[in-house]
Amino acid sequence: MKRTLLILIAMLTLGMTGTKAAENDVLVSTDNTTMLLFAKKGEPLKFVYYGARINEQQASDIWLAGDASNRNAYPTFNDWCPNESAIRVRHANGQIMLNLLVQDVERKAVTGGELVTVKTKDKVQPLFVDICYRSYNNADVIETWTEVTNREKKDVVLEQYASAYLPLRSANVWLSHQHGQWGNECQMYEEPLTAGMKVISNRDGGRNTHTDHPEVMFSLDGQPRETMGRTIGAALCWSGNYSMRMAFDPYDQSLFHFLAGVDETAAAYHLGANQTLRTPELALTYTDEGKGGVSRNMHRWARQYKLHNGMAVRDVLLNSWEGVYLDITEEKMHKLMDGVKQLGGELFVMDDGWFASDKYNRDKDNAALGDWNVDRRKLPNGLQHLNDYAKQHGLKFGIWIEPEMSNWKASELYDKHPDWFLQNTGVEPVQQRGGTQARLDLCNPKVQDFVVGVVDRLMTDCPELAYIKWDDNAITANYGSTYLGSDRQSQIYTGYHLALRKVLERIRAKYPDLVIQDCASGGGRVNYGLLPYFDEFWTSDNTDALQRVYIQWGTSQFFPANAMAAHVSAAPNHQTQRTIPLKFRFDVAEAGRLGIEMRPSDFTTKQLAFAQQAVEDYKRLRPVIQLGDLYRLLSPYEQGGVAASHMYVSADKGKAVFYAYKLKHFVGHTVPPIRLQGLDPNRSYRIKELNKVGNSITADGKLISGKVLMEAGLALALDNEYASRMVELTAE
Ligand code: DGJ
Repeated sequence: MKRTLLILIAMLTLGMTGTKAAENDVLVSTDNTTMLLFAKKGEPLKFVYYGARINEQQASDIWLAGDASNRNAYPTFNDWCPNESAIRVRHANGQIMLNLLVQDVERKAVTGGELVTVKTKDKVQPLFVDICYRSYNNADVIETWTEVTNREKKDVVLEQYASAYLPLRSANVWLSHQHGQWGNECQMYEEPLTAGMKVISNRDGGRNTHTDHPEVMFSLDGQPRETMGRTIGAALCWSGNYSMRMAFDPYDQSLFHFLAGVDETAAAYHLGANQTLRTPELALTYTDEGKGGVSRNMHRWARQYKLHNGMAVRDVLLNSWEGVYLDITEEKMHKLMDGVKQLGGELFVMDDGWFASDKYNRDKDNAALGDWNVDRRKLPNGLQHLNDYAKQHGLKFGIWIEPEMSNWKASELYDKHPDWFLQNTGVEPVQQRGGTQARLDLCNPKVQDFVVGVVDRLMTDCPELAYIKWDDNAITANYGSTYLGSDRQSQIYTGYHLALRKVLERIRAKYPDLVIQDCASGGGRVNYGLLPYFDEFWTSDNTDALQRVYIQWGTSQFFPANAMAAHVSAAPNHQTQRTIPLKFRFDVAEAGRLGIEMRPSDFTTKQLAFAQQAVEDYKRLRPVIQLGDLYRLLSPYEQGGVAASHMYVSADKGKAVFYAYKLKHFVGHTVPPIRLQGLDPNRSYRIKELNKVGNSITADGKLISGKVLMEAGLALALDNEYASRMVELTAE
């Protein structure tokens, strides 16, 4: 009764009793989805529908069907105070009311889709908010964000400025999200949304994905399934502090509110007269193919539009960190390069430890960050020599930097520019890694120039440098800027990341082909705010293959394989001390962008031959592994000891590769045949097992119909501890 009344009120409010004015419908559509808004001039913008694609006639029918939620699409803190709001402002006159009314709707074609801008203005003050929707047709993604422009005479303070709001109607919504910590990133959590508010947020200040990730999925038909169910995926494209709030409507238990954007803690943003702030995009996707459908859409979107150079396959590399740590010498670098060449790799990356200054050495992790000069004690012939050595061996050369950081009182950078660090006058600063590390104040344009200069200098000293590993190993402490004025201290969090984006834009404009890895003590910065500037990310500092199965499962929810760096490391593993067979280690690392994180000289002759073959097969198959559609077959969380984590299928369904891992082993613990996904049921596939050690799977070499592989499954004989399989399928 109450609900019928509400709907009636909604319809009356909008002046429609069955004859809605279709000219006010705003459809934002992709190939398979539609978001429907209602934009009537002089009224707030309304959200009506988000789901499977509908046409204009069907859009009108939604009103007749009677379930239009009548929610403002971008709710403001206004006279109806208890409402969830996405934006709260303090006007120049001190008042905090905001009523955004539609002025106009603009549409324009953009690459792969359309940009729809709903222009709104406060009822009273000259404060303008453009509410933007950008469709990506073939990925079924719609991004939404706002652009707030202050035309008042003085500063307007944005106390809250979320990117987007989405009202969702379902009586049984489940949330899937990733949570973790250093070395254990991206663990999966799934739970029904119940009464009260659920908040997912991060306030690290610099790296926002070691703990909770700013990407979530909502399963609208109850418990999340991998292959079915109406599911919405949402990714906030932001590298700084964020919060995502989910709350049931106090008056309607089948309606819940979802808000996502910059976290407002200590983040009030002063918008000067005639200035505009653009909020980060929230990327949304909808599918009825469950979590797998969301992942495939997001991966397609990422590769085509978001990730830097996202359609390209990545090189097989060796990174020096776990091989030598800070103990870098020219001889050791030569040896590692010889090793990766022997394995069939294509790129060598020299990690931390190569730099110094006259006064400070990087022999421990407590000094010299910021002093980016080659340490001639360790590398007498400099970087160009290493690049030449790599080149002679048919390899590319890459290097590690951490340009947003320096060591407090332990770097020449500090000696020269103590004011370039975030700090509060008279307060002893918090110093982190090595007891001295602190973050630079990127809000200061001179610091921005310095950071760009670090890359410029490397590219001048070593013009053929092919790869940079860009690290970030401390939180944002010492929340104070000597550059920003006393009235702007609360915008360090936001200002820092806007500045970081500027810096990266400058670097990318100059060096579009340089491959840059996004690293932050492992997976601390795996987000779509930064990935437009990076080719890949370091998934985790934890290279233990068993734990990586879980980390990579979680990471694959939103991020594609060509961005997910996965390295084979030593046994016992340096993080967990676990000893895992080389085959299992390769089978896990080959599910992402394969690399090596150990000394190849530690391989036995037999292991070396195995690794060489593995690298060769990986290089042959990487177009499908790195760029194919992902199907997750069997979750490590659900099946008590086995995971058939990743199956990659080429767009034409002619080629596929998948992996299966035994995660624990007990007598009697057998594994049933595993049903494959994504194949063409009308074609037959030749089965070829790769990375073989010991017995083969029964089907090895056989030609089997796609239908049978997907319905009856494939027996994998995973019958000993750390058993694993890598299988290639080729349609004939
Ligand atoms: C943290 C990174 O995640 C590691 O891979 C390594 O690069 C170290 N920093 C170097 O200090």
